[in-house]
Amino acid sequence: MGHALLGVLGLFLLNTLLYGHAEGPNKAVVTLQPNWTEVYRGERITLRCEIKDGGDTEWEYEWRTSSSEKPLDQNEHSITSVTGSHRGDYRCKGRKKHTQHSSTDWSDPIKLTVSDKLQPVLTVSPSWLSAGASVTLNCSVKGPSAGWRFYWYKTVPEPSGNFFYRHEQLSGSSTGTEQDSYIVHGQTHTARYVCRARRGDPEYSTYDSEPKFVWSADIPSSASLTVSPDRAQHFTSDSVSLSCEGNSTDWRVMRSSPEGRYWAPCSTWGTMNGSTCHINTDRTSDAVYWCESRSGESTNAVNITVQDGDMILLSPARPVTEGHSVSLSCKLRSQTFDSIVFFYHNEKVIQNDSRWELNISAVSKSDEGFYKCQHSGRESAQSWMSVQVIPAVSRPDSSSFPVLLIVGLVCGIVLVIPLLVLFCYRASKDSGFFRPVQSESTNADRADYKNGHYSPLLQAQ
Ligand SMILES: *[C@@H]1O[C@H](CO)[C@@H](O)[C@H](O)[C@H]1NC(C)=O
Ligand SMILES: *[C@@H]1O[C@H](CO)[C@@H](O)[C@H](O)[C@H]1NC(C)=O
Ligand SMILES: *[C@@H]1O[C@H](CO)[C@@H](O)[C@H](O)[C@H]1NC(C)=O
Ligand SMILES: *[C@@H]1O[C@H](CO)[C@@H](O)[C@H](O)[C@H]1NC(C)=O
Ligand SMILES: *[C@@H]1O[C@H](CO)[C@@H](O)[C@H](O)[C@H]1NC(C)=O
Ligand SMILES: *[C@@H]1O[C@H](CO)[C@@H](O)[C@H](O)[C@H]1NC(C)=O
Ligand SMILES: *[C@@H]1O[C@H](CO)[C@@H](O)[C@H](O)[C@H]1NC(C)=O
Repeated sequence: MGHALLGVLGLFLLNTLLYGHAEGPNKAVVTLQPNWTEVYRGERITLRCEIKDGGDTEWEYEWRTSSSEKPLDQNEHSITSVTGSHRGDYRCKGRKKHTQHSSTDWSDPIKLTVSDKLQPVLTVSPSWLSAGASVTLNCSVKGPSAGWRFYWYKTVPEPSGNFFYRHEQLSGSSTGTEQDSYIVHGQTHTARYVCRARRGDPEYSTYDSEPKFVWSADIPSSASLTVSPDRAQHFTSDSVSLSCEGNSTDWRVMRSSPEGRYWAPCSTWGTMNGSTCHINTDRTSDAVYWCESRSGESTNAVNITVQDGDMILLSPARPVTEGHSVSLSCKLRSQTFDSIVFFYHNEKVIQNDSRWELNISAVSKSDEGFYKCQHSGRESAQSWMSVQVIPAVSRPDSSSFPVLLIVGLVCGIVLVIPLLVLFCYRASKDSGFFRPVQSESTNADRADYKNGHYSPLLQAQ
């Protein structure tokens, strides 16, 4: 053992004596900058041949590649816009300048994978707004997510009104976010979002994601969407119309698939008559409808289902106000009910008898959810019934205090000055005889005049 060690040490010393230095042979390494393992068409990258421990020796370089574009014999190979022909393995080696023999081995290969331009996938959750809740956007880029920054936009219609949309960057994201998610606070109206990822210098951008919606079921707006007949489910061949009821004709009825991928104005999927849109009920469909104005406002959105089956559930298309009564019923296309009808709330039977109507005299938040009905083996589609809670009546709060304070002070000053003038006038007139001003003023004035301050609103606080 000891002898073997001595032998190795001896060889090492001999080697050092012969070659004059203690370093191992120089080694070539190919590096990719930026060091992404996957690059996309159009990106700018640089392949570099580095000689480990090359010192200040001058080197000449040689490349070997399986790609159809061979780098020049230089240590750097820049590609300003990557294409499919750059795909392949790259190796390099270095040779000391002005020498014949002293060269490195071929480096290990680096594999350049070139992929098509990416489209990130945007998810929005929840997709239906609830009061006060925030909305989380997630922009997901396939593959190793090296170096991406994420950019977030809302799409808003161009005022031209021809269904052109522009991207409006969400606040605080002008330089992108490192996180692949973004939280939107205080969104109250239906909105449509898009995201995009970028990296590199010069900046390379992915395609835009497909837009995604967040819908609002009930919001104060200068218009609202009404459905006639007012229910969420309809039979094929029923006549169903939608109108945007507001004070202008600026509104148009829009429709989207439930996942929000395709959307279009009424003219492409229905028939317009004045400001009313008639749904084409030839086929079954499941969609979300709302009205949108040229200026980008939108109304409440509703879910509407057209069914080609025998039975539907009649439930309100719009949210029901807490405390109000509501009646859900089951409807057959042709016959009448002759046996038990089951009503389900979130998959639980809640009524099981011969009544084909389910009455709730005062709805509460706990009645919200999916409803469906069943009759002799047939089942309706389920529909969501949304319950709107009326917020407690807001009382004048402290935010109005400064305004009242200022109004009070101004009134006080305006009224006190004439009184003071009057007081001084009297005091000088009846010299030495003090009479409070109070007795001179009217009853109404007196009530508010205390200790020389006229400040009714201040005292009310
Ligand atoms: C790329 O380089 C950075 C630092 O420059 C390093 O943190 C990262 O791990 C490298 N990535 C790969 C895939 O080599
Ligand atoms: C976004 O979605 C992707 C893919 O579903 C997931 O891997 C990632 O963790 C999500 N990001 C956040 C912040 O939730
Ligand atoms: C529409 O349906 C979805 C579930 O499919 C539900 O979450 C949403 O609240 C419904 N919207 C309205 C206004 O009922
Ligand atoms: C009527 O429409 C205008 C803008 O189109 C809006 O500013 C106004 O509030 C609306 N009035 C009512 C009562 O909805
Ligand atoms: C449009 O609606 C009016 C009444 O609102 C009706 O008389 C007329 O027939 C409708 N036109 C078409 C083409 O349906
Ligand atoms: C419906 O009611 C009947 C009698 O009250 C009962 O026997 C049956 O189990 C109920 N069915 C369901 C699904 O609850
Ligand atoms: C439900 O209420 C309606 C009135 O809203 C009434 O006409 C009907 O008889 C009630 N049905 C049942 C089963 O109680």
